[in-house]
Amino acid sequence: MLGVALFTALIGGCIYKLITGLRSVRWLPGLRVPFAPMSLFGVLVPTYWWNPGSKWSWEWRQTNFMSHKHEIISIVPFIWGRPAYHVGSLNAIKQILEAEQRRTIKPRDLMVPLLLWGENLISSNDEMWKRHRRIMGPAFSLSTLQVLNKTWNQLEKAMHNLVATRKKELDALGVGGERPDDGVFTRLVSELDEDAKHGLDKGEVIGNTFAMLFAGHETTANTLTATFGFLALYPEHQDQVAAEIRAVLGDEDPTLDTLSALPILQACFYESLRFFPAGVTLTRDVLEDISVTVSRPSHQTICLEKGSRIIIDMVGVHHDPNVFQDPESFKPERWHNVPEHLVSMFGLGPRGCIGRKFAVTEAMCFLALFLRDWEVDIVLQDGESREEYKDRVMTKAGMVGLAFGVGPITLQVSKRS
Ligand code: HEM
Repeated sequence: MLGVALFTALIGGCIYKLITGLRSVRWLPGLRVPFAPMSLFGVLVPTYWWNPGSKWSWEWRQTNFMSHKHEIISIVPFIWGRPAYHVGSLNAIKQILEAEQRRTIKPRDLMVPLLLWGENLISSNDEMWKRHRRIMGPAFSLSTLQVLNKTWNQLEKAMHNLVATRKKELDALGVGGERPDDGVFTRLVSELDEDAKHGLDKGEVIGNTFAMLFAGHETTANTLTATFGFLALYPEHQDQVAAEIRAVLGDEDPTLDTLSALPILQACFYESLRFFPAGVTLTRDVLEDISVTVSRPSHQTICLEKGSRIIIDMVGVHHDPNVFQDPESFKPERWHNVPEHLVSMFGLGPRGCIGRKFAVTEAMCFLALFLRDWEVDIVLQDGESREEYKDRVMTKAGMVGLAFGVGPITLQVSKRS
């Protein structure tokens, strides 16, 4: 008897949760699931047909968003987690992100892991975000990137000088002294201001240092892995890239000018990033109603209500066949002549990636120098075709460290003739 009562209460609870959830997203069509994908159980329970789990965005990418017939869907859990709007179209994210100031904030509960070392640019909102962005912005300006203009030899010399200078500084400071540094960190420290009215307090300096490592390292590294993987898989693209690098760089070291004259290489990098968007999930809580005009499933305006949660699925957005024709194919040419501000894998609007220029410059520099001298090829298993290799290796993706990307790839490298 007690069992029946408990069971009835449980079912009743689920129905109540489902109905209130559906009401909160205004009955927008979508998935009705036991656990919200971004909740604790949503992550712990693996992806099955009945549970989206943490891998649904990638594993269901071809059929997600109701086979991309909807630009925005709702995911409403009936056991655990909060209902949310899931956005999978470029058109919709443009409308949400480009005018987002004051209309949305980063959800505080989802930012907890990022706050481990203190408030930072990624986690902060409102006035605090403005202060952090104003301080961090100049560290990523073009003039800062000019440092990459130095030739390889100059870099080597600079490194020697740096070591010598550091040695002198450390000797002068003695044990336990404060240690000056160059670059973003120096900028952060120079803005140290314990009241944190205009500058940053110590926690924020540390928080932002961590944020740079968090946001800047594995994102670029994973995209480089994917770029090498695709170029090894498709030698015709690699040959074009190598010819371009030879023609533009010759035997010279890259400069900002020559790096920007490598559109074929850049397109390969962007296409790899489209395939595996390293910043895979962008989250927002809605502060003011947002109207988004969509054309799928029909032309209509969807109101994302104040108090609701938005989850932007960057895999969904960048594998949408309505925008990226034949999305499962590697087609770098789709990025030829696309203006920088339309490269959506770095986010859009005021909260777009602050490190975008840095990441692209760093990656292009590495790719250009490597591929000028070395050829990469895939390692096939016995009797395996290149197409089978693609399915085995280049469609396995997930979180690699703190960013999304393809798993480990084994390549063979030989000297370019
Ligand atoms: C391929 C490399 C990278 C990709 C794909 C990438 C992607 C993104 C995306 C999609 C966002 C927007 C997040 C949102 O709207 O919620 C973002 C923001 C951010 N990125 Fe990157 N990123 C990359 C490299 C870097 C690097 C190298 C750094 C710094 C060294 C960096 C630092 C940041 C920071 C601090 C933010 C937050 C900006 C703000 O909220 O104002 N990223 N990134």
